Amino acid sequence: MVFKSNFRWFHVLDDLHDRYGDYVRVGPRELSISDPDAITPVLGLSSKTTKGPFYGSLEQTVHTTRDRRFHRQRRRVWDNGFKESLALFGPRIEGFTDSLLNRIEENTAQAVAINEICEHYSYDVMSALAFGKTTGFTEGKSTDTAKKVIVGIRKGVEGMSLLLHVPWILSMLKRCSRVPSPMKFFNDWSAEQVELRRRIANPEPDLMGHLMKNTPNDRQGKILLDAEARLIIGAGSDTTGAALSLIFIYLAMHPSALDDIRKEMDAVFAASQYSCLRRQPVLDSVLNEVLRLHPPVLFGAQRVTPPEGLQIGAVFVPGNAVVSIPPYRLARDPRNYAFPDSFIPERWTSRPELVRNRAAFIPFSTRPYNCAGKNLAMTELRSVVARVTGDYDVGFPVEDKFDEEAFFERMTDHFTIGVPRQNLIFSGPVSESVPTSTVAVNLKDVKRLEFLQPSTDADLADPQVYGNFRDY
Ligand code: HEM
Repeated sequence: MVFKSNFRWFHVLDDLHDRYGDYVRVGPRELSISDPDAITPVLGLSSKTTKGPFYGSLEQTVHTTRDRRFHRQRRRVWDNGFKESLALFGPRIEGFTDSLLNRIEENTAQAVAINEICEHYSYDVMSALAFGKTTGFTEGKSTDTAKKVIVGIRKGVEGMSLLLHVPWILSMLKRCSRVPSPMKFFNDWSAEQVELRRRIANPEPDLMGHLMKNTPNDRQGKILLDAEARLIIGAGSDTTGAALSLIFIYLAMHPSALDDIRKEMDAVFAASQYSCLRRQPVLDSVLNEVLRLHPPVLFGAQRVTPPEGLQIGAVFVPGNAVVSIPPYRLARDPRNYAFPDSFIPERWTSRPELVRNRAAFIPFSTRPYNCAGKNLAMTELRSVVARVTGDYDVGFPVEDKFDEEAFFERMTDHFTIGVPRQNLIFSGPVSESVPTSTVAVNLKDVKRLEFLQPSTDADLADPQVYGNFRDY
């Protein structure tokens, strides 16, 4: 059915829920649940559910382990790693954003494939985190390797999306990674990069260094680290790349949202208050609204109910049932949001009444298995969007005749979201096209040099600086 849906399983689920209601049986012992009251009992911190069979059929990592104790220990290692490295990583993220701005500058006023530049950016950031060095994809280096790595990951997630409904077949994916294939290329490439990372004499602090320090130096440890290096790249690049592409497409569709961000950020830059780690009301409202409309992970986290069963309001779900909550359905449910299909960033700022159920906003899932890289992802999105919108307007090439409905119809579900290829045009610099800009000097130079580096403990503890640490 997933195959027949042409990788649009999220639409199939939507139709099934329209027809049969909140609880739909989608497998012999599997339920898809769209009841908003199910979020806490199924996914929440004190939920008695465990991760479903899908996870167990993949190589063990912090993400795929079904062992709660191991997850707790390993997740602590990851969380501490991010806490240590994120503040130091901020300036490096700005360096990658510099490269992205250069690439846009070289292509100003020409059609650029937005998906490609966003993918390259997110792969570069993730490679630096995972392997301690940049792959130079954004700068146009290593193009062949970039292509192969990206295809390898895509084949992996496509395989997962097809087979995750049939766990015994899913275990074959592991074997696919050993016979010549794009996935094997990716696996070999990443294992080699981990090995090279081990040999760097004085590496800059990064997540992989932290994971290495906290993993036994034996065969099991090596297997875990290799798998987690792939997890960093796989979990962090497709998701962030897709989110970034969609944000720019929405800004091209809604130039007023771009103006609002620019207005907010002009003042922030002028006061030298910019930090990509710091939450900004308008900027974040646009990011959140795109993440709401198009959760980059379309896979509804799979859980198994406890043997005694699970009570959700008036509904009793029997024990050992596999359950999941479809993220797309949740985002488009009028019980959760007023005008759920409309792009209204103000619902996150001046019009909170348009959010009817805040618990439903979980593009990064929710604790205890929420996204470990959420703060990093938001940092990347802020850095790129704040700085690109400061310098450029974004639009569609006239000859493309962008058709919103047809475009979103072509979105696919490969576990993560598949954003259709789209060209955009960046025109600027804005300091010439917007004479009312409050910043007299070249805005671009200010932005490249004067970002805050919140590296003190006080900054880290400040919810304004480390916004988005809390669950929405
Ligand atoms: C916009 C970007 C991102 C989105 C929307 C996103 C979303 C998610 C979601 C929904 C999950 C839960 C998946 C599940 O339940 O199976 C998850 C887990 C995870 N994500 Fe992200 N993610 C993003 C970026 C990142 C980045 C940059 C990293 C960095 C390495 C990352 C690392 C992880 C890890 C390690 C997990 C597993 C956590 C655990 O199970 O304890 N993600 N992410």
